Amino acid sequence: MSKTILSVKNLDVTFKNGRESFTAVKNVSFDVYEGESFALVGESGSGKTTIGRTIIRINPASAGEIAFDGRKISGVIDKELDTYIIRNIQMIFQDPMASLNERATIDYIVSEGLYNFNLFKDEAERREKVFKALNDVGLLEEHAERYPHEFSGGQRQRICIARVLAMQPKFIIADEPISALDVSIRAQVLNLLRDLKQERGLSYLFIAHDLTVVRYFADRIAVIHQGQLKELAATEELFARPLHPYTKSLLSAVPMPDPDVEKDKKLIVYDPTMHEYETDKPSWREIFPGHFALANEKEAAEYAAAYR
Ligand SMILES: Nc1ncnc2c1ncn2[C@@H]1O[C@H](COP(=O)(O)OP(=O)(O)OP(=O)(O)O)[C@@H](O)[C@H]1O
Ligand SMILES: [Mg+2]
Repeated sequence: MSKTILSVKNLDVTFKNGRESFTAVKNVSFDVYEGESFALVGESGSGKTTIGRTIIRINPASAGEIAFDGRKISGVIDKELDTYIIRNIQMIFQDPMASLNERATIDYIVSEGLYNFNLFKDEAERREKVFKALNDVGLLEEHAERYPHEFSGGQRQRICIARVLAMQPKFIIADEPISALDVSIRAQVLNLLRDLKQERGLSYLFIAHDLTVVRYFADRIAVIHQGQLKELAATEELFARPLHPYTKSLLSAVPMPDPDVEKDKKLIVYDPTMHEYETDKPSWREIFPGHFALANEKEAAEYAAAYR
């Protein structure tokens, strides 16, 4: 059995604005194993970034619990644990155009965490760490003296990744790391992340809004819709035996390589109002080993029967 590095249990995140309140994340539970790429997939506004931000403690958890490396990290924690989390859980943010300080050199941007945590003994060691991180993402030492505006979108995303790598974290939250990039460089960045994982035994929470991107990257996938997980399974299992109608609708949007299949394919539209419940409410159930879905008793029986 693999070791769990991150555990999210019954997480709720509610935003309050005066009298209004909005629950963006509802009763979400999942574990990420050490060395695993775990993907969180769902449409815009489904709560993906909010979950990432709650793990790194930018947003507070309203209910539930998050544990990292066996220690509870949600709620009140001590300074030592806080430092440990900042060093070991790093997030690559969704928008590489917005997440770099335009007035700082690349050298400073990549070193910022090193400065904050005194992670070098002298200037030579700091420079060495910066150069290594730049090299790791395919950038050059001379780039260190430049400013963000001198770089393309893809290069900026590499700078964001270098900044994360300089901290030598155990766990990386990659929030749609390639969606702002040109199609031609997406594969490069994905391959880079995958190689880094293999070389360093990193674990990822990889956030995406479509399944195509994660198919060749993720070990397991959780599908989220309106703040709730709908289904969770190993990647090929999810593609082979999708259970929840929302997952099926996402899959129907994935282009098929065979033009004949593609031509006759029907787009499945998911209508959440068709899945509102007065009685027999859905809960998180293991339908097949390791394959979970949000279902009530009747649906669970139908899901299990569908692939017999
Ligand atoms: N600070 C906030 N205050 C109030 N509402 C918020 C806040 N942050 C996020 N939300 C709301 O929570 C919901 C989930 O937002 P979130 O950014 O997590 O979605 P997402 O799945 O990452 O979407 P996208 O794919 O567009 O990035 C949205 O309805 C959003 O408007
Ligand atoms: Mg987001």
